[in-house]
Amino acid sequence: MRQDGHKVAVVGATGAVGNMMINVLEKRAFPVRELVLLASGRSQGRTLPFRGKDYEVRELTEKSFKGVEIGLFSAGGAISAKFAPIAGEAGCVVIDNTAHFRMDPDVPLVVPEVNPDAIAGYSKKNIIANPNCSTIQMVVALKPIHDEARIKRVVVSTYQSVSGTGKDAIEEMLNQSRELSNAVRWSKEDGMDALLRAIGPYKKVETKVYPHRIAFECIPHIDVFLENGYSKEEMKMSWETAKILDPNIKLTATTVRVPTILGHSEAVNVETEKKITAQRARELLSSFPGVKVLDDLSKNVYPLTALAAGEYDTLVGRIREDESVPNGLNLWIVSDNILKGAALNAVQIAEILARKYL
Ligand code: A2P
Repeated sequence: MRQDGHKVAVVGATGAVGNMMINVLEKRAFPVRELVLLASGRSQGRTLPFRGKDYEVRELTEKSFKGVEIGLFSAGGAISAKFAPIAGEAGCVVIDNTAHFRMDPDVPLVVPEVNPDAIAGYSKKNIIANPNCSTIQMVVALKPIHDEARIKRVVVSTYQSVSGTGKDAIEEMLNQSRELSNAVRWSKEDGMDALLRAIGPYKKVETKVYPHRIAFECIPHIDVFLENGYSKEEMKMSWETAKILDPNIKLTATTVRVPTILGHSEAVNVETEKKITAQRARELLSSFPGVKVLDDLSKNVYPLTALAAGEYDTLVGRIREDESVPNGLNLWIVSDNILKGAALNAVQIAEILARKYL
């Protein structure tokens, strides 16, 4: 670790995740010697605060990485594909939040609570990949269960918030919600036929970000569809879990965009080799770093997005044995997708990188 701190660049500094990266660097007192904020030419001249000072946003160019030691990238896959190798060549270690390099065998894919030692492999390309938000929160909760009882198979359904798509998606959902709330006039006395007529306006709302209206809807479509009928988001959960946790784990996913603002939820069914009771799973999860168990049914306590937003920990609850198989568990896992699902995980990787390798 350099005594005077590091020169750090944030690529996509004006975006939802980039902004949070700056925030987390400050909150966790990351040793920053110099901060470089990069975005598109559209943002040039904007300023963003860091440690009580305003920093000007600059346009990302091929020359942006001179002297930069750590680059936190979150400006989309195409930007990473082009600029991460340029930064790496210039001696900057890139921590990339996009999917572009995740399955590259020369790029470590890291969740610090699960496989921190993989960071050592960064030097092949000077790139470390941050996993998909849905994968991160799931593997954090699966790790202590896998260590104790060997996970054989996972069936997961996700309920992912619009913030995962970016600022425009949040805006679109809020606008659509306002528009529909004003347009749909109905009271309980009107009956269900009247309700059906009243929701006519549902069909006419403008959509730009998603293929369908997201307000008051669940869209079983995240990222592009692949030839096997799965969405890429679903396959990312399989591929990335194999790379981070264990290639022997079989996983099948259904990923769904839901009209929540911040925080992804997941219903996770796990089948293990050894029997593990719900009580034992609760104990293991309670003592695992980065996990908080919220599981008191008598008081209606379980993870919710409202509780996860702004939290560093991944929340796990509704822990119960799957009565349909000899060795199975069900879990409800919720985490802040912008924090642990992206910015926090990236900064945690940077912390280990700075402490052990730079
Ligand atoms: P900008 O604000 O200048 O468009 P989000 O996913 O929340 O919408 O954020 C995307 C981030 O990626 C923003 O910071 C955005 O900057 C940045 N970005 C988009 N296109 C480019 C580009 N061509 N070069 C650099 N940064 C980009």
